[in-house]
Amino acid sequence: MTTRYPPTLRRLRQDAHVRALTREIHLQLDQLIQPCFVAEGSAGPEAVPGLTGVNQETPESLLRQTEADLRAGVHAFLLFGVPRARAERHIDWSFTAGQVRALKQRFGKDIWLATDVCLCSSTPHGHCGVLNREGDHLDNDASVQELAAAARAYAEAGADCVAPSDMMDGRIAAIRATLDANGLERTVLMSYSVKFQSSLYGPFRVAADSAPKAQSALRDRASYQLDPARSGDAWLCAGRDAAEGADILMVKPALPYLDLLRELSREFPQPWAVYHTSGEFAALEALAAQGLAPRAALHREILTAFRRAGANMIITYGARHARELLGL
Ligand code: PBG
Ligand code: ZN
Repeated sequence: MTTRYPPTLRRLRQDAHVRALTREIHLQLDQLIQPCFVAEGSAGPEAVPGLTGVNQETPESLLRQTEADLRAGVHAFLLFGVPRARAERHIDWSFTAGQVRALKQRFGKDIWLATDVCLCSSTPHGHCGVLNREGDHLDNDASVQELAAAARAYAEAGADCVAPSDMMDGRIAAIRATLDANGLERTVLMSYSVKFQSSLYGPFRVAADSAPKAQSALRDRASYQLDPARSGDAWLCAGRDAAEGADILMVKPALPYLDLLRELSREFPQPWAVYHTSGEFAALEALAAQGLAPRAALHREILTAFRRAGANMIITYGARHARELLGL
């Protein structure tokens, strides 16, 4: 046979050994973060629609679930607390802080516990900040004050990381300053720095009880989350949060924004997280449930894409299924 130009590229695809040897992406369980939800005052754990194996937990079932997750090889968690009382100012963060304390008391250094910092599960209107008097815009600095208090409460309760997801201006600097002023300089700060306004948050908003209420003059989160049609803002946000002291940066959602993750992760040397959102995860599960895709291979392909695009860590509802789905 005559030698081909360009040379044959199928030679290194012909068997499993050579494919493994030439692979650059290796998924590992210690790159995955499992989100979990805990609600105050509910009768029992409630399944979250679309998210296989994810419940809105009670404080008791959260501990049991975490034990099971540890047995499944998961060690990193992102906690969302859903308190019963709702308020606009001087919000009481003690319910979620109490869950952080209980988890760290029980599991200590066996877990790395990040805690989401936002207002949307605590405000009566479901927005991620404090509304102005007219009710048509979020008051940035009042929101930042509340966020910093939440971050402090969670860090004092023992959270290894606090992760503000609100998208107010200046929150990273304010939170870092508050933590440092209170002897919490070891608490890691992970910023949802590049978070878009998206239709992919549906199951999450059920689980976190955090959808903007229909009667609010502010209908959606477009005035604070990023516009999918403008990528320059992603650069500005990443640069700003890095300069304000974010230890870890994030892109969210994941799959539709991998172009940005690819470029941003080359530009900014901070570690990058990608959030495979509830809607994205549920879409994959729905495809597999209809028999239209092989479930495990589907999840593996998508998680591989996140790593290839530059994510160091992946927040995914499937972390606790990783052994089953990914053979990890
Ligand atoms: C709220 C928050 C959201 C998510 C994490 N924190 C949704 C939103 O902005 O309404 C999304 C997570 C997901 O969909 O899995 N601050
Ligand atoms: Zn929020």
